[in-house]
Amino acid sequence: MGIKEQIEKLRDELHKHNHRYYIEDAPVISDYEFDMLLKELENLESLHPEYAHPNSPTSRVGGNVTKSFSSVNHRYPMLSLSNTYSLEEIQEWILRVEKSVSNVSFVCELKYDGVAIGIRYENGEMVQAVTRGDGTQGDDITNNVRTIKSVPLRLNNGFPEDFEIRGEIVMPHKAFEALNERREAQDLPKFANPRNCASGTLKLQDSSEVATRGLDAYLYYVLPEGVLSSSHAASIQAARELGFKVPLKEDRFIAQCAGLDQIMDFIGHWEEKRKTLPFDIDGIVIKVDDYESQQELGFTAKSPRWATAYKFKAERVPTQLNSITYQVGRTGAITPVANLEPVWLGGTTVKRASLHNSDQIELLDLYEKDVVFVEKGGEIIPKVVAVDRAKRTPNAEQVIFIEKCPECSTPLERKEGEAQHYCPNIDHCPPQLCGRIEHFISRKAMDLAGMGAETVQLLVNKEFIRNSADLYSLSFDRLIELEGFKEKSVQNILDGIQESKKIPFERVLFALGIRHVGSTVAKLLAKHFKSMYTLAQASIEEIVNVEGIGEVIAGEVYRFFREEKNAAILDALVEAGLQMEVQEDLISTVSSPITNAKIVVSGVFEHFKRSELKEVIEKHGAQNVSSISSKTSYIVAGEGMGPAKLKKAQSLGIRILSEQEFIALLGL
Ligand code: IVH
Repeated sequence: MGIKEQIEKLRDELHKHNHRYYIEDAPVISDYEFDMLLKELENLESLHPEYAHPNSPTSRVGGNVTKSFSSVNHRYPMLSLSNTYSLEEIQEWILRVEKSVSNVSFVCELKYDGVAIGIRYENGEMVQAVTRGDGTQGDDITNNVRTIKSVPLRLNNGFPEDFEIRGEIVMPHKAFEALNERREAQDLPKFANPRNCASGTLKLQDSSEVATRGLDAYLYYVLPEGVLSSSHAASIQAARELGFKVPLKEDRFIAQCAGLDQIMDFIGHWEEKRKTLPFDIDGIVIKVDDYESQQELGFTAKSPRWATAYKFKAERVPTQLNSITYQVGRTGAITPVANLEPVWLGGTTVKRASLHNSDQIELLDLYEKDVVFVEKGGEIIPKVVAVDRAKRTPNAEQVIFIEKCPECSTPLERKEGEAQHYCPNIDHCPPQLCGRIEHFISRKAMDLAGMGAETVQLLVNKEFIRNSADLYSLSFDRLIELEGFKEKSVQNILDGIQESKKIPFERVLFALGIRHVGSTVAKLLAKHFKSMYTLAQASIEEIVNVEGIGEVIAGEVYRFFREEKNAAILDALVEAGLQMEVQEDLISTVSSPITNAKIVVSGVFEHFKRSELKEVIEKHGAQNVSSISSKTSYIVAGEGMGPAKLKKAQSLGIRILSEQEFIALLGL
């Protein structure tokens, strides 16, 4: 046998053993024997680089470094799924589908909580793996996906010449916990949950690091439809034969369901059993099985009509309150945080949860050492939602909100009508100093890449900086003095500072961190006043006159510019060369039928992404608002606007524009 044949034979064997181990869970050789075969192959490949192949089993260990992931157009858009938390709405969806398609049958699957991926195969070889991205374009993360052992690099016979399979890359709990333990030991920040961890891992430049992290993949969608079989369930079965790790009937990860009862059964089963799974799921996906029926139902702009997802409600678990810490934000706002007896919730160990403010503590009727219920909403930080009073110890003391700042001991203040307490020691309270600078450098503001919270804290501690303007007088010679700072990181910081001078005016305004001036308000002000100078000169009345700005905001803005120390910071920022005026193209020159209107955008659209639609609205001199009120001028309603919104709009007599009507109104 020649070298080439020998290499091929080894590769073949190793692919088969890999499949037996990671997909069938039935290895026939020991790990040691596997490693020996792999070593042999590695040896031959290094002696004969002319026979190298990207899909060789040796690529599983990684080694490729991707400097930046290139963007790839998806052949088929990568859509999302409509979803609901309500079983009633699932029932309605089933009835709707049954009405529009005769003899329809369904497939239920787990809704994997991971990172969506599309993997292309040509002639049985994996050629490319791409993330969802914006649905049209994603990142090419092929090298990283090659290291995931359950993704076949080469398929068994019977494959179509060119096709794509999609699925979800997940981080199993065991791998997640192990990684976080390693990171803790190395003093690295831990991942908040397995999904973030999977997503962070896939974006690593070094694929050999990816290889160590234990990612797994479940594949659930073959494209083009019909390339393997005439129905979804049959295609998944066929994909299994080709060597893919697909959801199995035996595990009840997938089931064909005739109708409502069987679907509800499947949902009920996993609602209860999901905690026993070795990875996270966040719901159940229900799909129409056969492709012809799928085609009849078609797609909306955003998601297929032939599938929907039932999402599990946030899980709630009891645990004990150990203590409360009070955090001080950049504005001086005090946030109470509950320190809890660690408890497993939705894929992570929870040790802390938000208590929001003193009203919330009162509302919960919280006592020291109470048993509390914790829930995870959409956000990463869990919250305390209730107290188990029956478990309260007899002599427990009620939790009383602090009166002094935990960082600088200044007596706290609370303004009329506000829920939050504040530390008024704006100039010297350390977390306020750092917080303001951290806000200034954040991505949505000045985007000072190369710098993070720790660097800011260090620079403040060392008294290199006291405010954002001081950043612009940092020099290479000073920064290089700092412990742990190498030439490259110092240069990165300085480059970031230099680059930030190009950031447009409205973001500079946002970066200043004026209370209540978020990025939307900053845009409104920038558009109206056009320069920092005119805004700084404006009276309260002039500021209130801007559409969308109320008295509270106007008051804060007015006060901000009248404080001497702010004026000094601003002078220094002007001196540093930051953008203090609007660039012309931001100023809307179009006079349009919607000038000054307040518009709510709801649902999904055929011709625009929501962000595009909002941009059009702004360009035509109107303002995007997020909730419907009597002040709303129009609602632009796309597919899937919720019934509650519709009712509210109708009751307030607000004009609802369809996408077509909106286009016609503006003559687009
Ligand atoms: S099918 C055209 N099946 O959930 C849509 N998606 O929130 C095809 N997901 O975009 C998707 N488990 O990333 C499908 N069994 C499953 C899934 C699943 C998780 C993800 C997928 C999807 C997202 C929607």
